Amino acid sequence: METTALNPREIQQFRAETKGTAGKIHFNNAGSSLNPDIVVDTVIEYLKDEALLGGYEAENKYSVALENTYTLIAKLINADVSEVAVVENASVGWGILFNGIDFKKGDEVITSEMEYVSNLIGFLHAQKVHGIVFKVIPNDAKGNFSLKALEEAISVQTKLIAITHIASSAGGMMPIVEIGKIARKNNILYLVDACQSAGHVPIDVKEIDCDMLSVTGRKYMRAPRGTGFLFIRKAAQDKVKPLFMDGHSIEWISEDDYKLRDDARRFELYEKSRALTLGLGKAIEYALNIGIDRIWQRIQYLAGIMRLRLGEMEGVTVHDIGDQKCGIVTFSLHGTESGTVKSKLAENNINVSVGIARSTLIYMNKNQLSNVVRASVHYYNTEEEIEVMCDVLKKMKH
Ligand SMILES: Cc1ncc(COP(=O)(O)O)c(C=O)c1O
Repeated sequence: METTALNPREIQQFRAETKGTAGKIHFNNAGSSLNPDIVVDTVIEYLKDEALLGGYEAENKYSVALENTYTLIAKLINADVSEVAVVENASVGWGILFNGIDFKKGDEVITSEMEYVSNLIGFLHAQKVHGIVFKVIPNDAKGNFSLKALEEAISVQTKLIAITHIASSAGGMMPIVEIGKIARKNNILYLVDACQSAGHVPIDVKEIDCDMLSVTGRKYMRAPRGTGFLFIRKAAQDKVKPLFMDGHSIEWISEDDYKLRDDARRFELYEKSRALTLGLGKAIEYALNIGIDRIWQRIQYLAGIMRLRLGEMEGVTVHDIGDQKCGIVTFSLHGTESGTVKSKLAENNINVSVGIARSTLIYMNKNQLSNVVRASVHYYNTEEEIEVMCDVLKKMKH
């Protein structure tokens, strides 16, 4: 089915429904995007009810809506509701999944050079503690992931392929569907970090054919900070050990035995913010009502304009490489520190962030980048906002 582009009337409506879009330009969506007003109202209303009714009583009142968050997550990624768990952020989700794998000395983990800092630390930790080997597939000269190099790197020792779909500080994307085919063919567990891509790009866990996936709420999903979720395929649930357990994650068999509950919620704990869980659900509902394919089309369009306009400017280098690019645009202004660019833009009510080497260390080191300016667009941004940012950058050079 053909995707219809978001029209100017819709964009105006989404902006009117997002107080944060007034009076400033927000190009820090890869950091944390602006919540729709309905998400903020949902969280506040719930907190008020908690205060008025009592925490457990409020939970009771909202039990259907709370459960619906899981249904909405499942719909967003085309999973079964028994395959999702709500967690506080992507690092927690990824850490629960990765650290639950029963690694033995000599097991191999294959990753790409775009991997996120927390995940790289996880590999190094498993190397120290379990004696695993981790292999990094370098991107080719055009910045594309090499499927051929991946196939060549796989051995009988390969236990896991772990890939970050969209890196923290780079505009390219990893071919997670094609990687999934290779993982499946070789019967290797496959873990995808979709932290930057959920709400940004359509994510279909059946198409990706991943066993596990981790997501944060605050980035392209427009959910409140402190929210996230994990996906674990039914068939993989017994291959990963829960790191923590409470009465929510198990069923008693007898006084001295228990069994894990029969779904992904064995990987979450009972106590969490119900208000934020509801806010997460509301943000997903808001995105699904628009359509992720339409969101993705609009993001590509805006990021394309931004790269073009920056590329035309003298003294600006756009760093994004690879054939498939996303809403994260990274660049440098010759002779001006990225931190100074960020501050100057902030003085003009324009939010961007600085992508530091540490976040995507292997890629940044390889490309001799210590930091970059990261301007990340969402569907509610406009062409005019891009022009305003470029005008400020032009003036900065004089
Ligand atoms: C690619 C990627 N993965 C994981 C994370 C970690 O997400 P969180 O801060 O929600 O744990 C980030 C955060 O910037 C990220 O960019």
